[in-house]
Amino acid sequence: MSSSWAAALEVVAAARVTLVLGATDTGKSTLVTRLAGALAGAGHAVGVVDADLGQSDVGPPTTVGLGRVRAPIQRLAEAELVALEFLGVTSPACCMRQTAGSTARLVRRAQAIGCERVLVDTSGLVAGAFGHALKRLKLDAVRPDALVALQHADECEPILREYAGGPIVVRLPAARTARRSAVARRQARQQALQAHLRGAVPVTLDLGRVATRAAPTGRGPAVTEAEGLLVGLGGHDGCTLGLGWVSAVDTARARLTVATRVEAETITWVAIGRERYRSG
Ligand SMILES: Nc1ncnc2c1ncn2[C@@H]1O[C@H](COP(=O)(O)OP(=O)(O)OP(=O)(O)O)[C@@H](O)[C@H]1O
Ligand SMILES: [Mg+2]
Repeated sequence: MSSSWAAALEVVAAARVTLVLGATDTGKSTLVTRLAGALAGAGHAVGVVDADLGQSDVGPPTTVGLGRVRAPIQRLAEAELVALEFLGVTSPACCMRQTAGSTARLVRRAQAIGCERVLVDTSGLVAGAFGHALKRLKLDAVRPDALVALQHADECEPILREYAGGPIVVRLPAARTARRSAVARRQARQQALQAHLRGAVPVTLDLGRVATRAAPTGRGPAVTEAEGLLVGLGGHDGCTLGLGWVSAVDTARARLTVATRVEAETITWVAIGRERYRSG
């Protein structure tokens, strides 16, 4: 085990909230998995918030997810899913503020259910004005005690520079790994969505009874244009219960037919996302 890993673990073990930063394929999710497992193995109550909308590990793509880790795990997807927030898109570029808000809410939720240590995994968008703005919004909303930056060179420094004197920063070398292509990423997203929707059954939603909510990304597609789109389905406490996709729209009777694994009687609202679901 390297000394840099030991140093990171020591800092993270003492921080209530740690956020992991880095470009794509730098090993963020692998590091979060190892850190969460090590902390759980040492007896901490550990929560992981997955703020990556595209390459999601905790919960499906288009959501920010909260999972609990109770023992060492091999993959972040093994975390026990506790809560989801549906954003309706797979890239944070058009909903940076909302992604940051969902991330911060799920961190507070993790703390409210007793997680003494919360790790936040993030998307690989760190470069340029977009990356910088997204991470600044996330950091300002989450206010972590520690930041772990995985870097090839100094690509996170423009972000870290702004937080000098703030959270404790640990810099680690990025994993030496082949970068996944855009096609491979899209395929991984589709497979993750298919896994979430495996075993989905058609549910008819009467829009006189079930509220249509705007997806957090703001003005999204109208109900009349919803066929084939992913939707978030929610319950009484405002939480996202799971996803579905719209298989039919009956405008005359104000009904949507949605394929989902969420129990029909628990659904009180539906939010129409912007992503089209491809069943295979
Ligand atoms: N320390 C490491 N040594 C060797 N391979 C690694 C290491 N960390 C991660 N990998 C491998 O690199 C690939 C990318 O890792 P990972 O998914 O953790 O990166 P990421 O930064 O979360 O990527 P993304 O930006 O897509 O979320 C995976 O195949 C993983 O197994
Ligand atoms: Mg990742």
